[in-house]
Amino acid sequence: MEASNLMARKSVDDIVAGGEAESQTLSRSLGALSITAMGIGAIIGAGIFVLTGTAAAQYAGPGIMLSFVLGGIACAFVGLCYSEMAALIPVAGSSYTYTYATLGEFFAWLIGWDLILEYAMGAATVAVGWSGYVTSILKDVGIVIPARFAHAPGTEIEGGGTALFNLPAVLIVAVLTLMLMRGTKESARFNNVMVAVKLAVVLAFIGLGWSYTKSANWSPLIPENDGTFGHYGYSGILRGAGVVFFAFIGFDAVSTAAQEAKRPQKDMPIGILGSLAVCTILYVLVAAVLTGLVPYKDLNVPDPIAKGVDAIGIGWFGALIKLGALTGLTTVILVLLYGQSRIFYTMASDGLLPKLFSHVHPTYQTPYRSQALIGACVALVAALVPIHILGEMVSIGTLAAFCLVCGAVIHLRRTEKGMKRPFKVPAVPLVPILGIGFCLLLMAGLPLDTWLRLVIWMALGLVVYFVYGRKHSVLRKKNGTTA
Ligand code: ALA
Repeated sequence: MEASNLMARKSVDDIVAGGEAESQTLSRSLGALSITAMGIGAIIGAGIFVLTGTAAAQYAGPGIMLSFVLGGIACAFVGLCYSEMAALIPVAGSSYTYTYATLGEFFAWLIGWDLILEYAMGAATVAVGWSGYVTSILKDVGIVIPARFAHAPGTEIEGGGTALFNLPAVLIVAVLTLMLMRGTKESARFNNVMVAVKLAVVLAFIGLGWSYTKSANWSPLIPENDGTFGHYGYSGILRGAGVVFFAFIGFDAVSTAAQEAKRPQKDMPIGILGSLAVCTILYVLVAAVLTGLVPYKDLNVPDPIAKGVDAIGIGWFGALIKLGALTGLTTVILVLLYGQSRIFYTMASDGLLPKLFSHVHPTYQTPYRSQALIGACVALVAALVPIHILGEMVSIGTLAAFCLVCGAVIHLRRTEKGMKRPFKVPAVPLVPILGIGFCLLLMAGLPLDTWLRLVIWMALGLVVYFVYGRKHSVLRKKNGTTA
C-alpha cells in the first residue's frame, strides 16, 4: 500500500469553506458564557456522580482528589490543542474532521471509530449511572425495582442470586432516542437551566457537606498499596485518574458548536478551557467532601453522592441531590447520543459508513434511522455490561483520540506554516507532547483487560475500513484512488 494512498486528506480550506456554506443556515448566537455553560453541561455527569465512589473505594482511597488533579492537568494540555484546532477549523465537527484535514483519511477513520467508544459507549455508561440513581429515588418513595432487573447479568445481588439485565438503563436510552429521532433540540436556554440545576446540586453538596467532613476519613490520604498495581498507593492514584478521566470527557464536545459561536476564534478557547477549569475545581472539592464524609471503603455503590448526603443526615437534601444528579445524567446521555449520530452523519457523508447513517427524515430533519440504530446498540450494551468496564473503555478510547488531536497540532504547524492561527497553543511542540505524555500515562494506569478490549475494538475498525470505508470513500473516488 502506498503511503500517499493512506494519507488521502481533505484540504483545510475545503473543510472551512464547506463549513462556512453550511453555517449560513445556523445562527451565530452563542457567546463565551453560553459555550462555557454548554461545556459544563456536557462534562458533569456519571464521572463525578458515580465513578468517583467506585474509583475511591477500589483504587485510590481519599487520594482520588489527586487523581482528579492529574486528570485535570492532562485535559488542560489537550484542551489547549483542541482550542487551536477549533479556532483554526471552526466548523461543526470534532476530532474526526480535524484529523481528516491533517493526518488523512486513515487516521480520521481510526479516530471516528475510536469516538464510538467516547460517544456511544459513554452514553451507555451514563445510562447505567442513571439507573443507579433512579432505582435509589424510587426506593425512597416505596417503589422497588427488583435488583435482578437493575444490574448487568452476573452481578451478585443481596439475598442471593445474580442479576439478569439493567432495565432502567434500557428505558432511558429508549426514551431519549425517541426524542432525538423526533428532533427534540435543546435550546440554549433549556440547556442553561439544566446546567444551573446540576451546578446548584454540586455546589450545595460541597457547601453543606464541608462542615460534616471528618478529617480521620482522609487519613491516610494515600492508603498503602496492597501489593497489586493499581490497588491504592501511587499506582492506585494513577489508575483512579484513568477511571475518573471519564468525568472530564465532554469539553471536546464544545467544538461541535464552533459554527454557532459569535466570535469562534475567541469564544472557543474560552469555552473549552473555561469549562475545564470550573469542572476541575468542582471535582477536586466534591472528591474531598465525599471521602471526608464517608470512609472510602464504603463508597463502592451506584449512587455515592447520595451516600455522602445520607452521612450528613438531612433527609430532604438527599432527595434533592438525587433528583439533581438524575437531571445532570439525563442531559449528558442526550448530548452523547446526539453527538454520535452527528459524527456518523459526517462519516457517512464522506462515504466511510453506509448511507443509512446520513439519511435524514423529510419532516423531522434528523438522521432518525441512524439514531434508532445507535439507540438500540447503546441500550443493549447498557443492559448487559457493568459500569466499571464501560467507564474504563470510554476513558481509554477517548485518551487515544486525544493523543491523535495533540499529534495533529504538531503536524499541522509543520505542513501549514502560513495559516492564520487565531488561537495558538503556547510552546509547541512541548505542550502537545506533554498532552500526549499525560494521556499515555493515564492509559498506562488502566487494567490490561481494558487495553485488550481497545486493541480488539481498533482491529475490528481496521477490518471495517478495509472491507467497506476505503472502497466507498468519496474523497478516494474523487481522486481516483479507490483500491
Ligand atoms: N463527563 C461525562 C460524565 O461524567 C461524560 O458523565
